[in-house]
Amino acid sequence: MGRLNGKVAVITGAASGVGRATAVRFAGEGAAVVIADLNEDGGAAAVRECKENGGRAVFQKTDVTSEPGVKAMVERAVKEFGRLDITYNNAGLPGALGSIEQTSIEDWDRTFAVLTRGVFLGIKHSVTEMRKAGGGSIISTASIAGLAGGYGPHAYSAAKAGVVNLTRSVALEVAKDKIRVNCICPGGINTPIFNFLTSDRETMGKLLGPVHPLRRAGLPEDIANMALFLASDEAEWITGVAMVVDGGLMAGRDIFSDPQFGGGMYSANVYVGPSFEIKR
Ligand SMILES: NC(=O)c1ccc[n+]([C@@H]2O[C@H](COP(=O)([O-])OP(=O)(O)OC[C@H]3O[C@@H](n4cnc5c(N)ncnc54)[C@H](O)[C@@H]3O)[C@@H](O)[C@H]2O)c1
Repeated sequence: MGRLNGKVAVITGAASGVGRATAVRFAGEGAAVVIADLNEDGGAAAVRECKENGGRAVFQKTDVTSEPGVKAMVERAVKEFGRLDITYNNAGLPGALGSIEQTSIEDWDRTFAVLTRGVFLGIKHSVTEMRKAGGGSIISTASIAGLAGGYGPHAYSAAKAGVVNLTRSVALEVAKDKIRVNCICPGGINTPIFNFLTSDRETMGKLLGPVHPLRRAGLPEDIANMALFLASDEAEWITGVAMVVDGGLMAGRDIFSDPQFGGGMYSANVYVGPSFEIKR
């Protein structure tokens, strides 16, 4: 039996990467899925893959920065499948790169329009329909870049931090309606979002792998698995959280195993007492 049997989901950014893998996963678990994206070719391919995986899916061309567009996306789910249970706000892009001094207001605003306004609109227009369905699960893709510095460009990091706290804020408002609001903070996932560095997935995998403690790049399916859990009834007591899925990256940096500390804390099995007893 599918973990999402009878549920209806909308997924933005579902023509590629994380969103597409999640759409296929959801479809395979019994959900009917609206694939929402700007990319029509990728959207059509995602619909095909969902159907091949035994599910129902339709494509809705959507720009998540547009309020009428997002409203139409939610309406499509209801018109096509009768209700809305799950919204996954996942559309994204790198946005403004470069130093803080070089970042233009225009590029800053464009980045926020997709990453933060897009999530706001997705939440806003889903809540009404989910109330009618007696509850629901809203998920958004934030990032570890929204939790700490150094994991993404400035505007991207600030926008993703906004997603993390919007998640918490709205979760409190709508909990009484049995609507859960959570986000996922991925580490480096090997998807076309890195096409600005290289479009070769194998090369990108080799770049991303070593920086993660679990020694491989993240795969879209790693995030799809977390989204599936948050979407399902298994997560019915979970709301307002930012789930980190990052191969251990946010656990910290293992500084004491650096050679400058002589192999440090893992080099010998000894007990070290109070510092005043030790001289080296
Ligand atoms: N890949 C990573 O390492 C990583 C890490 C952390 C967070 N994320 C986030 O994961 C999400 C998915 O990214 P991905 O890695 O799968 O990248 P991707 O480029 O493969 O997919 C992103 C999708 O979003 C769509 N999109 C962009 N702007 C849109 C708009 N205005 N309206 C509708 N659709 C739009 C694109 O067409 C694309 O299909 C993004 O929010 C991204 O910021 C990715």
